[in-house]
Amino acid sequence: MKKILVTGGAGYIGSHTVVELAQAGYEPVIIDNFSNSRESVLDGLKAILGHEVRCYDVNCANADALRWVLKQEKDIAGVIHFAAFKAVGESVQKPLAYFQNNVGSLLTLLQVMPEFGIENLVFSSSCTVYGNPDALPVTEATPTKPATSPYGRTKQMCEDIVHDVAGASSNQLRTILLRYFNPIGAHESAKIGELPLGTPNNLVPFITQTAAGIREKLTIFGNDYDTPDGTNVRDYIHVVDLARAHIVAVQRLLDRKAADTVETFNVGTGHGNTVLEVVQAFEKASGQQLNYAIGPRRPGDVPAIYADATKAETVLGFKTTTSLLDSLASAWKWQQTL
Ligand code: WQD
Repeated sequence: MKKILVTGGAGYIGSHTVVELAQAGYEPVIIDNFSNSRESVLDGLKAILGHEVRCYDVNCANADALRWVLKQEKDIAGVIHFAAFKAVGESVQKPLAYFQNNVGSLLTLLQVMPEFGIENLVFSSSCTVYGNPDALPVTEATPTKPATSPYGRTKQMCEDIVHDVAGASSNQLRTILLRYFNPIGAHESAKIGELPLGTPNNLVPFITQTAAGIREKLTIFGNDYDTPDGTNVRDYIHVVDLARAHIVAVQRLLDRKAADTVETFNVGTGHGNTVLEVVQAFEKASGQQLNYAIGPRRPGDVPAIYADATKAETVLGFKTTTSLLDSLASAWKWQQTL
């Protein structure tokens, strides 16, 4: 059974990927220091999988700690690197923490992996590297733009670091960069899902918490954009679809099929939806009337972005299967368990 190290494996996308890895016949091993996740996620994983998933409470930016884990866990076939802070607004307040954590953990991985003969890496990147695109949908060839937040800058820096390290002749590293769009929803079992610590930054958890009465109302950040109904457009991908893209990427690396030392894929549905469309879809999916009001724009928001998902489909054979409605229904089902 091929062993895959999943950093940040107790996180939102990480935990859903651990489930898909195990169910696809891999042996996932988690590294997570629970700085932005809860240990209860491990109970959810056990409930779904019927067995425990080994987890090391370790900061993967710490080289000696990472080496210790890799000495316990021999023959790691590949690494999926999720561990990172991801709140745009928070990154503006705490840039140093974001650079130290997000860039530092990648640098440590790239330094230590070759010491253990590990050559395969899937890196969690983000559509945020495109900034405010001139044309839509964005393809992998769409030029990246200067990021508008330290968080976005960490993702751009990490992509550049991967290219530079992979390009250095001495290194056998092969990497697949997955540029996520907007992950939403939860596993059908409702045993794992999005667990925002504190007030949610992201739209869907704020919607579900409003519907659950935890938040008084949703504020829609602006309806005066040049979009079909004036609200922002995003590409909302179900988190299990996103998780499955990682399985395909890992297998491609293990089969050494990657054409280049670094391959980049957009992972999105290929469709855009406005915030109001998401609200209306949620009301339909949940049968709940949502209390919302239009407020001022949120600084840094991109008016519209969604993926051209063609490359993942033609090269990886990957395509999303979950509708916006079903994604939101899964988010609501999960919220009701909290
Ligand atoms: C979506 C839309 C808001 C909350 C960010 C990161 C991205 C990724 C996902 C990590 C926007 C609107 C939101 C609210 C609202 N993060 N909104 N009221 O900003 O597209 O992406 O999170 O990987 O890298 O940039 O996601 O969910 O915050 O916002 O109107 O209370 O919902 O204006 O248009 P975003 P989001």
